[in-house]
Amino acid sequence: MKPSLNMSKSTDPKNNISVSWSSPSNIALIKYWGKHGRQLPRNASISFTLDNAKSITRITMTDLTEDRKTDIEFLFEGQSNPEFAQRISNFIASITEAYFPFLKCKHLKIESSNTFPHSSGIASSASAMSALALCLCDLELQISEKSVYDHDFYQKASLIARLGSGSAARSVYPYVAVWGNHNDVNGSSDLYAISVNDKIHSVFKDFHDDILIISDAKKHVSSTVGHQLMDNNPYATVRYKQANSNFTMLLTALKTGDIATFGKITEDEALTLHALMMCSDPSFILMEPRTLEVINKIRSFRQKTGIHVYFTLDAGPNVHVLYPHSHADEVKLFISNDLIQYCQNGQIIFDQTGNGPVKLA
Ligand code: PMV
Repeated sequence: MKPSLNMSKSTDPKNNISVSWSSPSNIALIKYWGKHGRQLPRNASISFTLDNAKSITRITMTDLTEDRKTDIEFLFEGQSNPEFAQRISNFIASITEAYFPFLKCKHLKIESSNTFPHSSGIASSASAMSALALCLCDLELQISEKSVYDHDFYQKASLIARLGSGSAARSVYPYVAVWGNHNDVNGSSDLYAISVNDKIHSVFKDFHDDILIISDAKKHVSSTVGHQLMDNNPYATVRYKQANSNFTMLLTALKTGDIATFGKITEDEALTLHALMMCSDPSFILMEPRTLEVINKIRSFRQKTGIHVYFTLDAGPNVHVLYPHSHADEVKLFISNDLIQYCQNGQIIFDQTGNGPVKLA
């Protein structure tokens, strides 16, 4: 993949720039499922930004002298990975002209790793694409000799992340992010996510999300295929309407600290996502029997104890267990007594809402 070119080792410091960011994954509460155009959502979504499940990416940029083509070298966890390298190379080629013309004629060495196991069944595209987007925007900033990580910086990073993977647009902001135009949120846009952090009740600032790994197998339907299936889903129109009204109710609950309504809407969204896949053509069942057993256990624990513990699901079988910090002791005990046996090799990622991306030295 690397063309044989004479690399000029310039002494100009601007010709050898290295930037690094860590960026977290996020979990959608109001789900984005269905898109059009170039990664534009059919409905607005809301997510929690996670804290521990992160990607850490470094880009080192040097000059190429004899070609107009960007040259990319990609290492994942220290190893070359041709599949990821191709995806990243195509992605960067698709955004160079319009968004980062300075990348033409540059060599990029991109090194990335995740803080969570690669084969945990956790979609890493949100953290990976947001970390990559932040690094690219940071390179642009370094070239321009500005050093202000302001609103415009994060907005562009979110837009670029969205072009890589829709849900990645939301990972750029702390705690709670909104992506997609919605009447209830001024400044919301289909093009990038925005932070709604300052409107959110403090109970959601250290909300737990423990991810029970029911299966660490690779997803059997990619989200690209899943989104496409919505184009012919007979319930699509009604779903987008429902997402809009669930959005209004969830955002109000997040603002007022109404955990019961938060939980009700969040579970409804998770099950709706799976129901949409079940009634697509072709149909997909992405839950496992153990997913349902865990859901039933969570619901009966909640009923028995009155403790606010809820679940959400991504487009796969793993269960995110959501609960406030004030109940952490009881819920962790419940997980270790009653739920861990449903997890593949006892795998759980203990996480919570977090402060968003961090620029690294
Ligand atoms: O960002 P994508 O294209 O991988 O789609 C993500 C879709 C869901 O994770 C199922 C929902 C969401 O809003 O994150």
